[in-house]
Amino acid sequence: MDEQPLESEHEYGRFSPWRETAEIDEEQARQLAARLELRAQGEDQVVMRDAYLDLLDVVPGARVLDVGCGSGAVLRALARRVAPEGTAVGLDPSPALLAVAREIADLEGLAERIEFLEGDARSLPVADADFDIVLATTVLGHVPEGDGAIAELARVVRPGGRVGVLELDGDGLLMVHPDRDLTRRIVAAWSDNSLVDGWLGRRLPGLMEEAGLQDVRMRAFTPIERGTTGFYVGLVERAAEIAVTVEAITSEEHRRWLTALRAEQAAGRFVAGLTQLFVWGTRPLVMLVASDAEALAVEPTTVAEEPVIAVAPVEERLIPAVPLEKAEL
Ligand SMILES: C[S@@+](CC[C@H](N)C(=O)[O-])C[C@H]1O[C@@H](n2cnc3c(N)ncnc32)[C@H](O)[C@@H]1O
Repeated sequence: MDEQPLESEHEYGRFSPWRETAEIDEEQARQLAARLELRAQGEDQVVMRDAYLDLLDVVPGARVLDVGCGSGAVLRALARRVAPEGTAVGLDPSPALLAVAREIADLEGLAERIEFLEGDARSLPVADADFDIVLATTVLGHVPEGDGAIAELARVVRPGGRVGVLELDGDGLLMVHPDRDLTRRIVAAWSDNSLVDGWLGRRLPGLMEEAGLQDVRMRAFTPIERGTTGFYVGLVERAAEIAVTVEAITSEEHRRWLTALRAEQAAGRFVAGLTQLFVWGTRPLVMLVASDAEALAVEPTTVAEEPVIAVAPVEERLIPAVPLEKAEL
């Protein structure tokens, strides 16, 4: 029997509006920001945001980094939590989105508590151990090789600090619709083409542990909306358009699907939502990952057996404030 390849040749995320934002102009930024702000206002979205910020233990006085902050909806919530002494820093590759985020923060009287920084999650322009908390919400699944950014998030959080990542689960887009077959094809087309890695969230626990984080935990949320004015109504319609573009459904099937969707909405039965996975962990006092072992020219197993030999130079490099005998191995 022929061996099946484990990974598909499919190029994921071809139609992600978020993967190349560095060059977008003001008008595009305003359109994208309007989507993010609409999403952020949803009742379930607020409940989810409060819950994951509680899990990260964002407290007054903390210095926090929001990677891929977009229009700043989560960043503003962070700024309110760390007030009055803390700082919230929002990083994004898009100067146009950062300008909109700054404008909204000004309007909400938060400008003094927020700093903005242009940059890329995969190579953060930030010193090691600079933050108490580092967060990225619905960002890394849109970024080619976004999983590589986890080590960067872990690098810039201080020992004892926490890293949190929220990811959409691409196949977790749910809605009320009478045609299951068409709807499933639309969801799969959206998951594969609108997200570079719609399954990244499922891999986050393993990735965070590989990056050296400890006490890694995971929680699922599924914000849902009823009615026809929320964010997810627009999302399911954009998903159907993508499905036509990639020929997962025909134009005729699209028309049929939309007509049935409108009937559900007119009857007041419509519900839509999306499962999202939140994974968080703590940077240990001494973080020893595979690259440290390489830098020290020792086998990772040798590091585990002979901690005193390996840990001294790592400690000097990463956590000068912690004496060797107190370091948690
Ligand atoms: C879906 S939006 C999420 C925005 C915000 N985190 C939120 O939850 O409202 C994705 C964001 O990731 C940003 N982004 C795209 N590529 C990035 C990269 N390589 N590094 C950091 N952020 C990136 C986009 O500019 C955009 O602001």
